[in-house]
Amino acid sequence: MTIVVTGASQGIGAAIAEAFAARYDDARVALVARSTGKLESVADTCRDHGATPLVCPTDVTDDEAVAAMAERVHDTWGTPDVVVNNAGAFTPAPLSELTAEGFRSQIDVNLTSAFVVTQAFLPPMRKRGSGHLFYTASVASLQAYPGNAGYCASKHGLRGLARVVREETKDEGVRVTTVFPGATHTPTWEGVDIDPERLMPAEDIAATVVQAYALSDRTVMEEVLLRPQQGDV
Ligand SMILES: NC(=O)c1ccc[n+]([C@@H]2O[C@H](COP(=O)([O-])OP(=O)(O)OC[C@H]3O[C@@H](n4cnc5c(N)ncnc54)[C@H](OP(=O)(O)O)[C@@H]3O)[C@@H](O)[C@H]2O)c1
Repeated sequence: MTIVVTGASQGIGAAIAEAFAARYDDARVALVARSTGKLESVADTCRDHGATPLVCPTDVTDDEAVAAMAERVHDTWGTPDVVVNNAGAFTPAPLSELTAEGFRSQIDVNLTSAFVVTQAFLPPMRKRGSGHLFYTASVASLQAYPGNAGYCASKHGLRGLARVVREETKDEGVRVTTVFPGATHTPTWEGVDIDPERLMPAEDIAATVVQAYALSDRTVMEEVLLRPQQGDV
């Protein structure tokens, strides 16, 4: 099986790539992000699990780079079984400090990139009549977090995109799952004074994604909300 994961160089994306590699003997995992060195390290872990990785250094906000990455994946392995739209950035700023440029950049990386990646991989999935698209959204897709207008807007939008993709593809064998994690222990939280034990492990988000994929193709886990046991931090 072939999996494409964006934002695979660390955090939740790396955990998802490694979880598929560990679960499926025949996993072929395309690892997409900008940091080649970190992708190579995730590739080594996937290889240790017996999977075949493909390191795809790509800026997902660059449409041409995404097209080239998708062409490489298709040329190497054909139509993927799973595409995980996970790349994202969290840049909090109160409205008094948020610039239009800052707002747009959150929309670009968290929302528009998922649209562009979806458009790159969905047509052959529809033609084949199977495939599974995942979107790593956020609790910020569902409620307002002051100081996070750009992030909340992008993640609310991501949920809307995923819901439309789901509706437009439900009769075509394509499954669509949106995951809404709360605070998860990843490099995003570096420098924040918080006990890592208070946060969810990225491996739990990854296990949920793999489990959603593993369900029968008569069932789709449309949306799943995951929060730390003690709630938001
Ligand atoms: N951690 C949390 O508490 C939490 C909670 C809810 C939702 N989420 C969501 O979960 C996803 C992963 O979060 P995380 O905590 O694992 O974040 P992270 O540790 O900051 O990792 C973000 C990933 O996205 C990639 N990325 C960022 N900008 C990119 C770009 N322009 N092109 C390609 N790749 C890019 C990064 O790789 P490069 O820098 O190498 O490009 C990295 O692999 C994000 O969508 C985030 O919004 C996280």
